[in-house]
Amino acid sequence: MQITTRVGIVGAGPAGLLLSHLLHLAGIDSVVLENRTREAIEGTIRAGVLEQGTVDTLIETGVGERMQRQGFVHHGIELRFGGRGHRIDMHELTGGRAITVYAQHEVIRDLVAARLAANGTILFEVEGVTVRDFDTDRPSIRFRKDGEVHELRCDFIAGCDGFHGVCRPAIPAKQRREFSRVYPYGWLGILTEAPPSTKELIYAYHERGFALVSMRSPQIQRLYIQCDPNDDIAHWPDQRVWSELHARLATDDGWQLAEGPVLQKGIIAMRSFVVEPMQCGRLFLAGDAAHIVPPTGAKGLNLAVADVRVLVQALTRYYTTGSREALDGYSQKCLRRVWRAEHFSWFMTSMLHHAAGEDAFQQRLQRSQLEYVVSSRAAATSLAENYVGLPFD
Ligand code: FAD
Ligand code: PHB
Repeated sequence: MQITTRVGIVGAGPAGLLLSHLLHLAGIDSVVLENRTREAIEGTIRAGVLEQGTVDTLIETGVGERMQRQGFVHHGIELRFGGRGHRIDMHELTGGRAITVYAQHEVIRDLVAARLAANGTILFEVEGVTVRDFDTDRPSIRFRKDGEVHELRCDFIAGCDGFHGVCRPAIPAKQRREFSRVYPYGWLGILTEAPPSTKELIYAYHERGFALVSMRSPQIQRLYIQCDPNDDIAHWPDQRVWSELHARLATDDGWQLAEGPVLQKGIIAMRSFVVEPMQCGRLFLAGDAAHIVPPTGAKGLNLAVADVRVLVQALTRYYTTGSREALDGYSQKCLRRVWRAEHFSWFMTSMLHHAAGEDAFQQRLQRSQLEYVVSSRAAATSLAENYVGLPFD
């Protein structure tokens, strides 16, 4: 079967769904193709920190209602080292900006509901997606659904299919340059049924490795510890996870970590990655399809939102004036923010993790950097403005 739309979107992650939602509000038709089920995309546990600009975008476009009711607004974060917590007052340092802790899969649920309520098309469980002819004026996407081959004809293709998707590799190798760094660290993350142990996120530096205390609801905590990225989760029975968390988060002021049943447990590897440019002809990459950051800066989901905003502005300009100028500048505009986030994520990761065999010199540098960040207003302001996210323009 042949379907026609203006923008064919591959991937129903935060990038693809938000793009489809914002295009709809701009009166531009799109179709989203997703290879997983609705239940799978709405149930995958991932990021949790939304920058101020992301929060504003969701509220202004009518999909922020549940987030405003259920999200946690945080005005600061704690950096914990040497057995003590040090608060970075982001709100004060950035002139009133904040972050909201609200799970990525809840954002996905809100966006899917909004698209379906507006009669938007999301085709789940598609297979064998291939993007074609994006170097011509008539690009198309071929895929299978329920055993049948379909063709989606469109004016533009948005590759929102994540790091392992098919869109980026479809760009001829000679027309893209890739930058990447793989870290020798992984994060073991758990969801636990216990009330949050803290009002604000705790990033802990410890000689046994990094730990992070986050939350999902008044009943559920999200906790992470640094581990070997190639480790087997079977080596981490709950008791070992708790004992590492207690050791890495210990303070001398009587702070207590709330424990509860472990609901979910997994290991993620950490890498930085950028492809340049983020476009080729009529194919535009957005979100993880174009760039990956380690989660220490909490930037992955927020960068996807930033890309999508730029793409929607450019497409709107094209459809209202016929000008391709903003589309041609898409990649250049996005990459400025992408590289800032890459640097910040690398900086936070390098400051807070311990690599096996790391020398004492490196550890002294980390400790010096931490002490500088919590004692110098200039250094704290720099961390705070990157963490809450630079304003969108
Ligand atoms: P994705 O969310 O990856 O969405 C891509 C979508 O495309 C998926 O639904 C996928 O099924 C679909 N897709 C892929 N290939 C195809 C295909 N061929 N055809 C059709 N559909 C396809 N960031 C943080 O800031 N903090 C975190 O704690 C954190 N944890 C993470 C944990 C994991 C396991 C992962 C993978 C990422 C994590 N991230 C985290 C990063 C953050 O979740 C991503 O930056 C964010 O999801 C990017 O959104 P996206 O829409 O670009 O890509
Ligand atoms: C999360 O809550 O999942 C989370 C919080 C902060 C990060 C990364 C992940 O830096």
